[in-house]
Amino acid sequence: MSSPSPCLRILFVCLGNICRSPAAEIIFQKVVDDAGLSDHYKIDSAGIIGHHHGSPPDSRMAESLKRQGFRIHGRARQINAEDLLEHDLIITMDETNLADVKSLAPDASLHGKIRPFVSFCRFHKDPRVPDPYYGGQRGFDHVIEMLKDGCKGILESVSKC
Ligand code: 4NP
Repeated sequence: MSSPSPCLRILFVCLGNICRSPAAEIIFQKVVDDAGLSDHYKIDSAGIIGHHHGSPPDSRMAESLKRQGFRIHGRARQINAEDLLEHDLIITMDETNLADVKSLAPDASLHGKIRPFVSFCRFHKDPRVPDPYYGGQRGFDHVIEMLKDGCKGILESVSKC
């Protein structure tokens, strides 16, 4: 029997698509796989800028993720206007990403599906997922803890599909 088509298409967005959003994609994929819901979701990530197009996740983020048992996958790409139409939920890492994605929308009726990642966090109260790019390894570990919290929150909030 063929697998059902995904009921929800989710896109994670950050600035470069090499640190936060690919990590969110990897972590959310594991959350849905562990829940036996792999067929229900199509999960992707993209960046506001295309500077890192084709690059794998940043080696420091990959290192922190691997240490926690996550499998690394994905190549960076830039978000485009079609992404706004093709995805049901677009989850941004900080306020600037949120404003930038909204500005890509052809009309404001699409703004409702663009949501800040932190709105799904159950325990972390940070106003944004901080950009770890210019910091040290501990910044990457902190981002992963936030992403694990929020990814479980996403599944709780959309689990009816
Ligand atoms: P990300 O981190 O948005 O979490 O992927 C960054 C990656 C690259 C740059 C900035 C942030 N950059 O300026 O190249």
